[in-house]
Amino acid sequence: MARKKFIAGNWKMNLNAAGSVALAAGLAKEAASLGAVDLAVCPPFVYIPQVAAALSGSAIGVGAQDMFYENDGAFTGEVSGAMLKDVGCRYVILGHSERRHVIGESDELINRKIVKALADGLDVIFCVGELLAERDGGVTNDVVARQVTIGLSGVSGEQMARVTVAYEPVWAIGTGRTATPQQAQDVHAMTRGLLNTLYGQAVADATRIQYGGSVKASNAAELLNQADVDGALVGGASLKVADFVGIIQGAM
Ligand code: PGA
Repeated sequence: MARKKFIAGNWKMNLNAAGSVALAAGLAKEAASLGAVDLAVCPPFVYIPQVAAALSGSAIGVGAQDMFYENDGAFTGEVSGAMLKDVGCRYVILGHSERRHVIGESDELINRKIVKALADGLDVIFCVGELLAERDGGVTNDVVARQVTIGLSGVSGEQMARVTVAYEPVWAIGTGRTATPQQAQDVHAMTRGLLNTLYGQAVADATRIQYGGSVKASNAAELLNQADVDGALVGGASLKVADFVGIIQGAM
């Protein structure tokens, strides 16, 4: 089935206020010619309002890179889904490998955040992916299946319309070492099969599965050409208008 491609930029902890607005404004100018693809950018929390303003009137959605699972209260340093909606977010990335492996988030914590984000009306970009040692140990599918199953616990089939899964092998993130199109396709197909088991064929067919990990303009088309690769979550190459647009063009 034809799924509209979805390309999201994860700016991580990069840029400053002026740089964020300049990048968003540059993308907004290009957006009209890129309508064949769904687009989003995920700035650091503090720049979200300015980026949302720079993108208003364009078809590019705004997302956050994380959120907490409570509405408000004594949770120093955390940001709620309602706050993200309040400043113009449509999307939130949850379970990114840097949250899992640098900050130490568990599958269970990520699940609580996903359930809450969906209840709050946000669309979720849910990241999964194996470490290099796990790939070398032959347990990639086990790891990704565990992350998907626990992460989506309590998420209904209806809510899955607002979930994008992002497969990001940790060894490919920011390393310049991209998964081969076949390696990506294999894990994406396994993941879609698991979604079929969990939710049935219609949901499995409709759910978009992005690939992430050193995606750039020169490799995007080949990756995005795979049957089960429905978009990309882009880090480093989302920080420059020309690089990001080059990837989007590869998806069209
Ligand atoms: P990268 O990051 O494109 O810089 O490898 C991808 C990601 O972490 O989402």
